[in-house]
Amino acid sequence: MNILVTGAAGFIGSHLVRLLVNKYPNYTIVSFDALTYAGNLANLADVKDAPNHRFVKGNICSEEEVKNALEAYQITDIIHLAAESHVDRSIEGPMEFVHTNVVGTVNLMNQARAYWKTNEGHTFYHVSTDEVFGSLGEEGFFTETTAYDPRSPYSASKAASDHFVSAYYHTYGFPIKRSNCSNNYGSHHHPEKLIPLMINNILTNKSLPVYGNGTNVRDWLWVEDHARAIDVIFHQGAIGCNYNIGGWNEWTNIDLVHELCSIMDEQLNRQAGESAQLITYVKDRAGHDMRYAIDATKLHEELGWKPSITFEEGLRKTVQWYLEHQDWVNDVTSGSYQAYYNTMYKDR
Ligand code: NAD
Ligand code: DAU
Repeated sequence: MNILVTGAAGFIGSHLVRLLVNKYPNYTIVSFDALTYAGNLANLADVKDAPNHRFVKGNICSEEEVKNALEAYQITDIIHLAAESHVDRSIEGPMEFVHTNVVGTVNLMNQARAYWKTNEGHTFYHVSTDEVFGSLGEEGFFTETTAYDPRSPYSASKAASDHFVSAYYHTYGFPIKRSNCSNNYGSHHHPEKLIPLMINNILTNKSLPVYGNGTNVRDWLWVEDHARAIDVIFHQGAIGCNYNIGGWNEWTNIDLVHELCSIMDEQLNRQAGESAQLITYVKDRAGHDMRYAIDATKLHEELGWKPSITFEEGLRKTVQWYLEHQDWVNDVTSGSYQAYYNTMYKDR
């Protein structure tokens, strides 16, 4: 197989590429990424020169760049992760999300259809999010049959791309697979997102901006477990399938931030409770979804997947990684990030 992984230099993409390159020496893994502010070649450093790995800088919205990559590497399969991924940025500027997440996905499918000519023997795997299902109350879980109800520009763009993927399957028999996953955490997570942002701010003694009253709930999954789930579904799922992926691991934001504060107090030899003094409740995110929770029973029962580590273990490993990779953090937060941070948090 010659697999094109889009968004390969991002958070989840880089973990997936690492898994595929190491586990399947007989495949060629082609990392395809536009290297936006969220993409970073350093994320692929340990597999960059592997004999079964290639990197192509390219944009999923470009007909030419996608076509050239498919032809140059005789791509047989695509795992599609490239996207604009941050909800707060989608509230500030939705068009970039329409462009990349919707137009980019459709362009990718058009180019693959034209290049493959036949649907036989190929897979187009679309990596999506639980946010397409909207917001839960205190009870219940998202399942594979939950109706779509996206509520942010980001989730609306991901829902639109999911609908196009499904439409191409029904209309053209295009060989798709899809999964919708909950919040990932782990190494190489961009510091604009909750967990790395809090770790970074604790370390630099900046305030910890908790949106609203901090009671919103997210279901957190170790990023390497997401990559394992994609691997299992890609290889064993039937064409046309969709699976939900989650950690059975719900946390309110405020409890999670307190947990991070106590791990950091320990790691930095601070007094218990010292980091938590930095917690500041700030203006809520517009249209902030209250609760996400995934029921991943189908994936567990049909394909045997389950999360591999506890949240306690995963959070400790994550904190450790950030403490040991301050160069990476400094690199990612240099340039335009500071201006973004100041604008995003100044009125909160
Ligand atoms: P990320 O923002 O860390 O990475 C996105 C990558 O896509 C970056 O490397 C960026 O350079 C690349 N990219 C952006 N626009 C591109 C374009 N036009 N052409 C080519 N490359 C482009 O995102 P992530 O958190 O790794 O998420 C990856 C995918 O998984 C996304 O589709 C996201 O919707 C989905 N997802 C994420 C989570 C999560 O918790 N992070 C959960 C469920 C699903
Ligand atoms: O559920 C899957 C989704 O998880 C993915 O599809 C998205 O790509 C990914 O970014 C993530 O979206 P969230 O909006 O849930 O993640 P984020 O880290 O931005 O925020 C997590 C929670 O923390 C959310 O309730 C908002 C809150 N928050 C976030 C930030 C950045 C804060 O309270 N303060 C903050 O500064």
